[in-house]
Amino acid sequence: MKNIVLLGFMGTGKSAVGRRLAAEFHCPFIDTDQIIEERTHQRIADIFAQQGEEKFRCLESEAVAGLAERSGCVISTGGGIVLNPKNLDLLGKNGILVLLRSRPEVIFKRVQKRAGQRPLLQKADPLSEIKRLLAEREPFYQRADLTLDTSDMRLDDVVQQIKRKVLEIEGRKSSS
Ligand code: S3P
Repeated sequence: MKNIVLLGFMGTGKSAVGRRLAAEFHCPFIDTDQIIEERTHQRIADIFAQQGEEKFRCLESEAVAGLAERSGCVISTGGGIVLNPKNLDLLGKNGILVLLRSRPEVIFKRVQKRAGQRPLLQKADPLSEIKRLLAEREPFYQRADLTLDTSDMRLDDVVQQIKRKVLEIEGRKSSS
């Protein structure tokens, strides 16, 4: 099986969906933010604060490069992974790129829960920042193989829809 690569903005459900999908497919779950935290022994927020976003983006691309040869995994990515086209080239080589979308207001509500862990949203007006970043990232989202808006969906339904579509894509491939 190809990897299932979850892309999307913070708060669209990548980690929760990814864990559940991995359980459905009985395959490993990998989280790029977690790889970075394990390698650096630092929290993402501390890397941003102490070394800046540019350094974080390098660490992120290193994590992606290390995953290029893997297959049969569910990979949840940090929301900004789409910013570097090379990341998507590598992840797409052996993976189905699944984009999770949500409305800005829904994202805003969801990220409140772990606000301190989202350094990019430490702004006076986080909702405006979410809208600005979403607009900036929109062109990069076109690379996705399939897209799902999770705003009004239950976790279970998101997981089952992705599973169905992935099996469809995989089936198409093996019969062609
Ligand atoms: C980021 C998203 C975060 C994390 C970092 C930067 C982004 O991951 O990688 O704070 O640029 O959107 P999640 O999308 O898992 O919250």
